[in-house]
Amino acid sequence: MSLQAKVVNAFQDKFGTAPSLVVQAPGRVNLIGEHTDYNDGFVLPMAIDRGLWLALRPREDDQVSVHSLDFGQTAVFHLNNLQHTKSGWVEYLKGIAWALQENGYALRGWEGVMAGNVPKGAGLSSSAALELATARAFQQVSDFTWNAAQMARFSQLAENKWVGVNCGIMDQMISAAGQAGHALLIDCRSLDTQLVPLPPALDGSGTAVVILDTTTRRGLVDSAYNERRQQCEAAAAYFGVPALRDVSISQFLAEADNLDPLTRRRAKHVITENLRTLNAAKAMQNADAALLGQLMNESHISMRDDFEITNHELNVMVSIAQAQDGCFGARMTGGGFGGCAVALVHEEKVAGFVTAVSDQYHDQTGLGPKIYVCQPSDGASVIAQN
Ligand code: GLA
Repeated sequence: MSLQAKVVNAFQDKFGTAPSLVVQAPGRVNLIGEHTDYNDGFVLPMAIDRGLWLALRPREDDQVSVHSLDFGQTAVFHLNNLQHTKSGWVEYLKGIAWALQENGYALRGWEGVMAGNVPKGAGLSSSAALELATARAFQQVSDFTWNAAQMARFSQLAENKWVGVNCGIMDQMISAAGQAGHALLIDCRSLDTQLVPLPPALDGSGTAVVILDTTTRRGLVDSAYNERRQQCEAAAAYFGVPALRDVSISQFLAEADNLDPLTRRRAKHVITENLRTLNAAKAMQNADAALLGQLMNESHISMRDDFEITNHELNVMVSIAQAQDGCFGARMTGGGFGGCAVALVHEEKVAGFVTAVSDQYHDQTGLGPKIYVCQPSDGASVIAQN
């Protein structure tokens, strides 16, 4: 049964009637442009065909009541009296309500049932999916205009200030604004976006985006992510600019010897990654899968050696993937220190790729990977209405 059918059935069982609407928001995978979002730089993610589905109906009062099929829990809160309780999934919903109300939106209550299939904690943005589905739900019942970039900003605000995770804008932006069949080049300063199609292979076959979960984990709340942010801010301060986005490669090279080695490596990653990301978008527009793959490989080296956010399993996974027939390129993706890699693979070689990577990764690490072949999908949307 599809998750849409599952939440609709569960709603029917719980409330004795059909929901008035179903909304959905996706998780994401980033093709290239890592740790560039909080440096006001460029990212190139795509929304994936895994997400969070929410069946709901409006209420006449200020209560929001949601049953999560995944957690087997119902959470209730009041829009006029938002309070933190112990942390948990409902804090993301409250955070969205808080961020919207802080920004002047008059919200109505609603009740519903939700379920998702973005693996949690894998670095595929199950939390952004929950945030954007919640924002969609409020937008529908409270009847205001949907502006994807604005909703992404409020969702990031909710995550930063209500939930307390210091993330950038990428995950929320792609979950809000993704489009089927495309990746999205996002300028994280202006939030201007440009749709780019997945490139075909040279023989005209398609290419597939394959997510390779190492099953090793390290949460974002961890200090390493915040430490990288501080190191980037220190590098930007050295150059006297608001963000590393504003440092050109020639400015960097001219000063490189004057930077301490750690700051130099961190800045080098961000500055070169921005260039790789812009080049990757061009490669995609030029239908050049080989170049996109090469840029992904270079991005991995930069994250491994300069930004130092990979772990042993990610490096093993990426090396195995890159060595397979039909693989154009591979790199770790997301926050790092665990989680997933992403590979671009010739569509007709995907089945063999998945088996070989899975076997070899298991042989070399003793771990069973999880592998997802993904379709570029739509951002947060209303998928059914009564
Ligand atoms: C996490 C954050 C994003 C981004 C990536 C790294 O996914 O939520 O904002 O910083 O890490 O590119």
